Amino acid sequence: MSFDFFIPCPRGLEATLAAELGEIAARYLSGAPFTPGAQVPGGVHFRGGWAAGMAANLHSRIASRVLLKIAQRPYRSEQDIYAFALEQRWEQWFSARETLRVDVTAIKSPLRSLEFTTLRIKDAICDRLRDVSGARPSIDTSTPDVRVFAFLTATECTLYLDTSGDPLFKRGWRLDKGAAPLRENLAAGILRLTGWQAGTPLYDPMCGSGTFLAEAAQVALGIAPGAERNFGFEKLKQYDAPAWKSLKNAALETKRAARVSQADLQIFGSDISGDMLDKARANFARAGLPVIPLKQVDARGMTPPTSTPGILVANPPYGERIEVRGRNARGELRESQAGRESRGAENFQRVHEEAPDAEFFQLLGDSLKQRFTGWHAFILTSDRKLPGLLRLRESTKTPLFNGALECRLFRFDLIAGSVRQRPA
Ligand SMILES: C[S@@+](CC[C@H](N)C(=O)[O-])C[C@H]1O[C@@H](n2cnc3c(N)ncnc32)[C@H](O)[C@@H]1O
Repeated sequence: MSFDFFIPCPRGLEATLAAELGEIAARYLSGAPFTPGAQVPGGVHFRGGWAAGMAANLHSRIASRVLLKIAQRPYRSEQDIYAFALEQRWEQWFSARETLRVDVTAIKSPLRSLEFTTLRIKDAICDRLRDVSGARPSIDTSTPDVRVFAFLTATECTLYLDTSGDPLFKRGWRLDKGAAPLRENLAAGILRLTGWQAGTPLYDPMCGSGTFLAEAAQVALGIAPGAERNFGFEKLKQYDAPAWKSLKNAALETKRAARVSQADLQIFGSDISGDMLDKARANFARAGLPVIPLKQVDARGMTPPTSTPGILVANPPYGERIEVRGRNARGELRESQAGRESRGAENFQRVHEEAPDAEFFQLLGDSLKQRFTGWHAFILTSDRKLPGLLRLRESTKTPLFNGALECRLFRFDLIAGSVRQRPA
């Protein structure tokens, strides 16, 4: 039996996700139904059996969720949507014992209130289950057993059943976050965009809680991102339980082997903050990863961790999220807001926050030019002026969304003798 699935992902990663899904199908589905579908802004469609849906949940590093399409129909009013939702045979998927949450997203919908529409869909599902079983499910917006998603365009409503549960960027190992951690699925997508392959040196000089490094180490060791977590489909009345058992056991077996691996991963990190490095180490331990070398270093003084060039990847602090730390050229200390609050403002000298970054990025650019010949550097930022600040000319820039924040992934090829400089 085949279903239509839709996999949302961070915007900008649709083609990368489609390529990843193709690889997952080739590696784990051995002949089970899987047909790639259209890429649309924010996600990818595909058609396949339960095994394909479960494998995508377990193995996709880029997906945000895996949604199973229930039905699609034109609508004009909230009442049309209520009637449409009431008609669906929800009872074949879950009972009134499961708790429920409904979410609605819309593009150009003529309906006035999405909140009211959400309520109508929830009413329809509860009314349906009451009619067929005599009981209504309870609503739980924080940890529901079952989630239903509705997607509205100007004219059509599509109902989806979520098969993931918690969003897939929650791998189950990160408890220690920094001030601005990158979502795991965005980090994994960026890693693929860099073209990094296991065995090539990888260095994140502003690694924070270690998201790029943990994702890369898991890729190198073949660890499935969802090996240690539960999924929404496990609460549904029907899914392919035997196929799931064998998919999950294989993933756990690979993870057990990785735990004792002595492989030299060639993955390195540094950060100016010792606290962040402690968080990263705790995260790596919880993720069952071997030791990843980390150093407390100001990125302006960074040096390559290997003699062979590799890939440098980072998301530096940027205005909207977190400020640069360390001493500026005048020896004044920069401190994060959180640091200031925890230490008390009197213990350090305040510097202006409006424009501290220019000097930092100029020195970071100097480091790249002087010491990272042969490396390829990939920097994610919402600041379009980054190449000018670094005084480097980018080879490519890829638009990506970090949540709602529009960013660019800039690529700088630091080729010997031809570092493409640009004036400030
Ligand atoms: C946006 S966060 C990076 C988040 C990281 N990718 C993660 O997933 O947790 C920026 C990081 O830059 C670090 N940082 C700030 N100033 C720095 C400097 N001068 N040198 C090195 N790291 C710095 C911060 O401590 C913070 O961890």
